[in-house]
Amino acid sequence: MADSAQHIDALLAEDRIFNPPPGLVENSNVMAWMRDHDIQTVEELYERAKNPNWFWPEVARDLVTWYRPHDKLLEWDRPFAKWFVGAEYNIAYDAVDRHAKSWRKNKVAFIYEGEPGDTRKITYGELAIEVNRLANGLRRLGVGKGDRVAIYMPMTPELPIAMLACAKLGAPHAVVFSGFSAAALRDRINDSGAKVVITADGFYRRGRVVNLKTLTDEAVEQAPTVQSVVMYQRLGAAAENVPWHPARDHWWHDLVAGESIECEPEHLDANDMLYLLYTSGTTGKPKGIIHAHGGYAVQTALTLKWVFDIKDEDIWWCAADIGWVTGHSYIVYAPLILGATSVLYEGAPDWPAPDRWWSMIEKYRVTTLYTSPTSIRMFMRQGEKWPQNHDLSSLRLLGSVGEPINPEAWIWYHKYIGGDRCPIMDTWWQTETGAHCITPLPVTPLKPGSGTRPFPGIQATVLDDDGNLSPTNTGGNLVIQTPWPSMLRGIYGDPGRFQEQYWSKYAVEYLAGDVTRIDNDGYFWVQGRADDVLKVAGHRLGNSEVESALVSHAQVAEAAVIGKPHEIKGESIVAYVVLNNGIEPSDELRSALRDHVAHEIGGIARPDEVWFVNDVPKTRSGKIMRRIVRSKAVGEPVGDISTLANPEAVEELDRAR
Ligand code: PRX
Repeated sequence: MADSAQHIDALLAEDRIFNPPPGLVENSNVMAWMRDHDIQTVEELYERAKNPNWFWPEVARDLVTWYRPHDKLLEWDRPFAKWFVGAEYNIAYDAVDRHAKSWRKNKVAFIYEGEPGDTRKITYGELAIEVNRLANGLRRLGVGKGDRVAIYMPMTPELPIAMLACAKLGAPHAVVFSGFSAAALRDRINDSGAKVVITADGFYRRGRVVNLKTLTDEAVEQAPTVQSVVMYQRLGAAAENVPWHPARDHWWHDLVAGESIECEPEHLDANDMLYLLYTSGTTGKPKGIIHAHGGYAVQTALTLKWVFDIKDEDIWWCAADIGWVTGHSYIVYAPLILGATSVLYEGAPDWPAPDRWWSMIEKYRVTTLYTSPTSIRMFMRQGEKWPQNHDLSSLRLLGSVGEPINPEAWIWYHKYIGGDRCPIMDTWWQTETGAHCITPLPVTPLKPGSGTRPFPGIQATVLDDDGNLSPTNTGGNLVIQTPWPSMLRGIYGDPGRFQEQYWSKYAVEYLAGDVTRIDNDGYFWVQGRADDVLKVAGHRLGNSEVESALVSHAQVAEAAVIGKPHEIKGESIVAYVVLNNGIEPSDELRSALRDHVAHEIGGIARPDEVWFVNDVPKTRSGKIMRRIVRSKAVGEPVGDISTLANPEAVEELDRAR
């Protein structure tokens, strides 16, 4: 790493602007669109896109197929939006049916590689058949419009197939990341009231078998709404003791056997619910973010087409997990709407060796890679020799998402993966926004660490706590000023929380929850969450969610959880725990508590550090002062502690370590 460290220092000391290669700019989709619309400059594009009534219907024309066109673009009854009002639509038609009827029928939709190295290529024609057979099978199980279906599956093509089959029927899916625990799955099933769960016997992760069906059964035992469980056979003989409930369980292959390969998509209202996706907030309970078919299709497809410049000949690889929004939008819906070819990979990035990804890029001639800063930092630590042993010359664009990217990682990514030629699209967005909101385009001069500026048609800025514009270069609250097509439509079953969380701090704007500054050139620098939400390896977790998991342990009375800067993961989880009277601290208990959190939420939430204390700092009203806990954990001055009910608890934090 010595060589790369010197190189990076040299680059950071220089002018930090990276201009895109002129050839890329000239041939980009966004420039082609500008030429078609007689738009001379990029500035003019941003200006004209400020008129939503012109911009969104105009871009939608090339991207989506309405069964019936809209009467009105937007109905905005803050905080509730309807986009493309009056339009009839089904996203599955654009993602699958349309291509299966065109020349793309024989084009590969997914190049799939399992962790053990098994591969499959699935064409749009084959995808349509699989989606239709499953949709017909689900319908036979009683799934219809409006019924929720939970999906808990590994990263095989059957996961997008399951999502699309639900979309086709108008049945909202709730995908639960396969790394979440049985308890997390149970809570999400119960909140969504899912009637059916689609899962698999298991999958491979770092060479080990994960028995997903065992976890599913544990969850379903306490999920009374579930009538049927559909299980895809991923492992077959490799699976260990797959539990089976004849009255409830169906093998996927049995369910679809004999089903018709045709299935007409439900003609839905463009504002009908496409999916629910649970994400963490500031309370212990994750929230079900609602997305709708129409507006979501338009903005996800447009951003992929313009930001990542996807063309028919590209090989696109969004290396996220479909269990998160990045995978929903940029592995499943947007690439399929565009008729793109995507790589889908089941396993761990560094399995069996740290060059797994680089060998796949070489093998499939991947042109565009989209990943997280955590992965980049991990690869950076393993050293550039791993990518250098592979021909990565097929790459032409790179992307970053999920957390702020530090300039060092940006430069390393640019040099060692992008060969100094591929611009990096640092895309800021959220589960709630559905699609990119602040992001460069391939024509944008880049500054490492900045997401540059709001996408055309998106109005965003930074406000102080009183609602005034934050001065240049001063951190404040990132807000989106006007509704956008792929915006969340609510929190499932909790309109009050929806209003409170995002729409109550300011009278007009959407509160994103990120601290951001805007520099002299109008570039946005998102610095991190402003609220009690953690970003651990790009995964979103609530401090109080982890605290609730700890407190659910029989020997724990109280817990305070904070995020501490971590070289690779961005943040690591540190927990201060107060034990019940008479319970003695021990290393066994410490590791039992870490396991307990993993059991309650999933391995991603396992605390890195657990410290035992007699008390945690609290206000007089009993609220844990995480700010103080955090300052102590990172060795910063704690500041004002006069509002504490128990100032002696601050010293405790030091003593515990
Ligand atoms: O804090 C921001 C961070 O991720 C949060 C959203 O997390 P989630 O809903 O899990 O979605 C992640 C994938 C879209 C944001 O509030 N974040 C996301 N992208 C960036 C980012 N922070 C800085 N730069 C980014 N490019």
